[in-house]
Amino acid sequence: MIQNLLELLYLIASVTFVIGLKMMSNPKTARKGNTIAAVGMILAIIGTMFLYQNGDGLTSREPVKMGLIFLAILIGTIIGWLTAKKVQMTKMPELVSMFNGMGGACAALIGLMEFHHNLGNTGALTAIILGMIIGSVSFSGSVIAFLKLNGTMRKPIRLPSYNIINTIILIAVFAYGAFMIFSGTGSQALLIGLFIFALFYGVMFVFPIGGADMPVVISLLNSFTGLAAAFGGFLYDNKVMLTGGILVGSAGTLLTIVMCKAMNRPLSNVIFGAFGDTDAVASGTNAAGGTIKDITVADAAVLMNYSKKVIIVPGYGLAVAQAQHVIHELENILEERGVDVKYAIHPVAGRMPGHMNVLLAESNVDYGKLVEMEEINSEFPTTDVVLVVGANDVVNPAAKTDPSSPIYGMPILEVDQAKNILVNKRSMNAGYAGIENELFYDPKTSMLFGDAKDVLTKLVSELKAM
Ligand code: TAP
Repeated sequence: MIQNLLELLYLIASVTFVIGLKMMSNPKTARKGNTIAAVGMILAIIGTMFLYQNGDGLTSREPVKMGLIFLAILIGTIIGWLTAKKVQMTKMPELVSMFNGMGGACAALIGLMEFHHNLGNTGALTAIILGMIIGSVSFSGSVIAFLKLNGTMRKPIRLPSYNIINTIILIAVFAYGAFMIFSGTGSQALLIGLFIFALFYGVMFVFPIGGADMPVVISLLNSFTGLAAAFGGFLYDNKVMLTGGILVGSAGTLLTIVMCKAMNRPLSNVIFGAFGDTDAVASGTNAAGGTIKDITVADAAVLMNYSKKVIIVPGYGLAVAQAQHVIHELENILEERGVDVKYAIHPVAGRMPGHMNVLLAESNVDYGKLVEMEEINSEFPTTDVVLVVGANDVVNPAAKTDPSSPIYGMPILEVDQAKNILVNKRSMNAGYAGIENELFYDPKTSMLFGDAKDVLTKLVSELKAM
């Protein structure tokens, strides 16, 4: 009876995970989806704590151990809640990498705890060792990703022939794991040795990757953690752990593929390539001797006020400046004056999937105004003014015109087709890919230098005064 109740709770939890994940694919339902999945997770945890029978029945539960478990849950909940509450949107990848690392560490600890209870059972040992290796890699890799994202570890560390060295280490880790499974050894020292070796591989795996590629790496490590958790589910014959692990694993894998596709870079290029390491700073004159042209906020306001159609291109800088509210205000003023305003959303604008959608949703921009790249590109030739705010790579024409460019082939927002282009950024610094942008030298382009929030606030004041 109790076992059936537990299975029912697990089934409900699994269903909530699937429904929650589905709802997260749409900004309108994402928040609700997250809550539904969280309720499912709470059910699964409570069910496991109070209904799980370990052969000797429920009576063997020790109050001290239960107390410790509750204490651990309480501490974890408080830390997780507070960190998630105060994290800025632009720091979200850091938070995800830390949370993901914790998941990997849990999977690795399961391996360390369960190995000795399953000696002689090859199937169980395989699940344990694989879960431990993958979880450890995910944990140490996530910690390095976190340090790179928060700027503690600035430059990628690349040994000569690092990809050959890493491949050898990876093979050695799995060979060591196979030895632990098939040799019948019960040595604790050897097990800990494998754990440390796998941690070492995780560090070596992420060390050479440029800090800018961390969002992709985190998504990949996320899929590793899901896989490691799924091995745990297999080991304990726990359906909800298995379902959760598979969902995390497949969602992480799909997200990695989507990001790579949107950047038009194969995953191998992210892992082995050297992307975004240079901090190119343009001088204001390009190779062809072209120069940039400034525009005053007042002139930009006039230009926009007398336009019929304006397309705003938000990018990473808009998020950094937290200018989502003021840009919505600008949109409202222009709309009141009969200007047709839309936002052009590039799939990898910002630093995480859906970054611009989430950012603009914060300021209640109508979803109908956010138009995806494929759809909006045909509208640029009929657009009077494109206002690029804190975006760089996603509007860089080199992706189409320069085969030697690292972003060549990446689909871009074709803003150079518009009649007038206004670009707001603070300087001539490069964006994520670390490369120059010819768009800034286009005769149709005028630069509006300054922090996005300051510039947009001034633009709004100018428009209000007209
Ligand atoms: P970026 O190319 O990174 O350019 C952002 C620009 O914003 C910079 O050139 C910067 O110039 C400017 N900026 C920074 N702070 C600002 C502020 N306070 N006010 C105004 N401007 C500011 O951004 P993007 O065009 O959004 O492209 C995203 C890049 O990230 C792509 O290369 C993409 O491949 C990569 N990426 C994205 C993702 C996802 S999933 N979104 C994941 C991994 C990688 P200044 O310093 O001169 O101001």
